[in-house]
Amino acid sequence: MTRGTPWPDIDIKTLIEGKVVGLSYNQIRAQLTSVRSVKAVERRWARAKVVISKGKSPYTSGEFVDLVDVRKRLPAQPTPAPADEFDQSQDGIVIDEKDNSLKIFSKSRRIKTLDDLIEACEIDEVVWLIERHKINKWEVGAKLPNEFGDMEITTSPLFQVTAWMIRRSPIAIDPVVSPVVITVSRTPKVKKVESGALLNALALPDPQCGFYKSLRTGKLTPFHDRAALDVALQIAQEYDIQKTIWLGDLMDLAEFTDKFIRSPNYFWSTQPAAIECKWWLTQFVDANPKGEHFAMEGNHDKRLQDQLIKHFKEAFKLRAVDELEGAPLMSIPKILALHDIGMQWIEDYPNGEVWINDQLVCEHGATARAKSGATVSAMAVDATVSRVFGHTHRLECATKTIHERTGARTVKVWSMGCLCRIDGVVPGVKERQNWQQALGFIEYLPTGEHEITPIEIHDGRAIFRGKIYEARDRVEQLKDDTAGTKAEWNW
Ligand SMILES: [Fe+2]
Ligand SMILES: [Fe+2]
Repeated sequence: MTRGTPWPDIDIKTLIEGKVVGLSYNQIRAQLTSVRSVKAVERRWARAKVVISKGKSPYTSGEFVDLVDVRKRLPAQPTPAPADEFDQSQDGIVIDEKDNSLKIFSKSRRIKTLDDLIEACEIDEVVWLIERHKINKWEVGAKLPNEFGDMEITTSPLFQVTAWMIRRSPIAIDPVVSPVVITVSRTPKVKKVESGALLNALALPDPQCGFYKSLRTGKLTPFHDRAALDVALQIAQEYDIQKTIWLGDLMDLAEFTDKFIRSPNYFWSTQPAAIECKWWLTQFVDANPKGEHFAMEGNHDKRLQDQLIKHFKEAFKLRAVDELEGAPLMSIPKILALHDIGMQWIEDYPNGEVWINDQLVCEHGATARAKSGATVSAMAVDATVSRVFGHTHRLECATKTIHERTGARTVKVWSMGCLCRIDGVVPGVKERQNWQQALGFIEYLPTGEHEITPIEIHDGRAIFRGKIYEARDRVEQLKDDTAGTKAEWNW
């Protein structure tokens, strides 16, 4: 420290120019050629100010100082931040945009009006509409530099400007879905259908009655699925059925085919197949003796007729002279003696049909496509009424809405599955067939309305209207009931 040491002109010049550009005493002290304390620098500046203000020279050389010229000559220096109540570094703007609303806010000395704020925030008033705004003003104390560059405490106004805006053209935003809570004062009672107005029908597809016969023991292994048939029978017993329709292929007649190789295991199985087939048909008639019963000719049933035409034309349509109005001697209805259970035989495959009402018809079917769903899709193309058919052994459905002058109506095409075995016993192109067991429960009004419900059967079990139907073992009863059929069949 050099208390009392005279200041050389070069240090006084550094002091004056430092103060003019706003340096602190400590910063000036670091630039001096002689060692001085901060307090010494401060005291020297106080004396220099007095001298300069009196128009005298602070230098030993006598050179005069014009602070204005000095300020112009020196490069601009950043204004030191005033140590006041309001830190101008926070002189920021807050822009808060949310969906279709916008809030802008500033707190500063510079932004005093709404226009200042809009300009500072670069708000596009074509897009945003100002709803309201608010301006607050108050005085705050601050240390600001005076003409000599010294910081002096003074007061200055501070402004707080806020504006709220909305978008002139609202944009779509994610909907906010609230839970809907509704208290219903009174639920109207369900109108009861008049007793007897709604009728029932059963569609029973493809039992393919027939046997694989062991050449060694004569044991008959059925193609038809006794468990599936018994489940269907339980449904028939449980409901009042007005129409029972066997959809065709009642008999498999594997031994009558010309198309596939006839295994010796199929020979001499037609008689027991006919006996058991009749046994099942009789039970379905007994279940609903007042209803109508139909058996449709399928392509398998037609094998018998085709064989006669090919190999024994004289037998074709041959009837006993006392039964000229009855069924031909070599025909399925005659062999099964359908006349004695009042069952109607629907021949002329593939044209035979049974109409349930004006909007629903049953047939055996002549279309079969390889892929699931493809058959009903093909059948739906030409369908003008709802159709239920068998033949494919698949459970499939397609619907189609037809638009007419009187309005729209929907037709359904159902492939109803089968009641034969699906475990590879039934002769087919391959062992693991894509087949499903089911039957169709049909509710209808004579006018045309109808509802078709498939009942699937899996391993002798079916679920329908809250009940589980499980197949009963019927073989013992079959043996008992057929004991007088002129042979001991090895069921
Ligand atoms: Fe079939
Ligand atoms: Fe068929």
